[in-house]
Amino acid sequence: MQRAEPQAFERVLSSMCTVPHPAAREAAERFLATNPGDPGTYQTVADLEREAVDILGEVAGLDDPAGYITSGGTEANIQAVRIARNRAETDDPNVVVPESAHFSFRKAAEMLGVDIRQVPTTDHRADVDATADIIDDDTVGVVGVAGTTEYGHVDPIPALADLAEDAGAIMHVDAAFGGFFLPFSDFAWDFEDAAIDTMTIDPHKAGQAAVPAGGFLARSTDYLDELTIDTPYLESESQFTLTGTRSGAGVASAVAAMEALWPTGYRDQYHTSMDNAHWLADRLAERGYRVVGPELPLIAADVSLELVNQLRGRGWRVTKTGSGEMRIVCMPHVTRSMLRSFVADLDWY
Ligand SMILES: Cc1ncc(COP(=O)(O)O)c(C=O)c1O
Repeated sequence: MQRAEPQAFERVLSSMCTVPHPAAREAAERFLATNPGDPGTYQTVADLEREAVDILGEVAGLDDPAGYITSGGTEANIQAVRIARNRAETDDPNVVVPESAHFSFRKAAEMLGVDIRQVPTTDHRADVDATADIIDDDTVGVVGVAGTTEYGHVDPIPALADLAEDAGAIMHVDAAFGGFFLPFSDFAWDFEDAAIDTMTIDPHKAGQAAVPAGGFLARSTDYLDELTIDTPYLESESQFTLTGTRSGAGVASAVAAMEALWPTGYRDQYHTSMDNAHWLADRLAERGYRVVGPELPLIAADVSLELVNQLRGRGWRVTKTGSGEMRIVCMPHVTRSMLRSFVADLDWY
């Protein structure tokens, strides 16, 4: 096999992953051959996973949190839908999500036999009245997104949680992207702000951990009981995770990143990334583009597909939203000088 080098981040403007913090990289390498899926054998990493969940709980305003480090936001979202389905009594369960929700909910629906009902958004945010209208006796879960994938917008989480509570459904917040920015914003999004049952919050995105390190949180272990199956041949007797063998590297790197950065480093990063996103939004607006955001460090602008393709041809990794806008995520590796040279390239065409 030829030695392949990983891609550099210097022109990556679309990814929600980023350069891991040095401590996270080092921890990932050190724990490469460990498996938190077998905590009886790999006790050190199992202890570290408990630490990871405790810190995630602090980030998300939850005392005594339950949860684990997942393979990513997709797994965490699937587990949330699984809990909602398993604890409900209906034979025809549905989960209500805004149309801005990540496509992982569609995977969950297909695998779990749950109907996913998409609610229209207003200004890229879940519409509370439309959500209320669509909830019925078979609704087992309501999802709010705290930092949408396409626009970085935050749904009205407390209002959605009230609807879920009234319906006797689980309230799940998908803060996969937003979770490490939102504590420093004015948004109401966490377990202290609303009657949230479960949450996705990913260290391998703005948490600056190495991939794979997603995060799943639940208000108590009762929720995880809905997922538990027996594991007869392991020393531990049961498992609530979706995957069996799991990445100890992800777990260790999540702990290392969060210990290094929570809260001061993440706060500084939030401000730097927001400043960068505002700077770019202003430059694009000056050039006549219609810009959406930033609410979190993510903007979308109506740059033509042709121009986006030309920029891609110059090595820039930029993507489009479902509606065709250019989408840029100001993750920690995205610096002002990168953005200056991106704008210079934009002006060149
Ligand atoms: C809001 C949101 N939820 C879930 C996911 C899925 O996360 P992952 O790709 O880690 O499975 C993403 C990915 O970008 C996301 O933005």
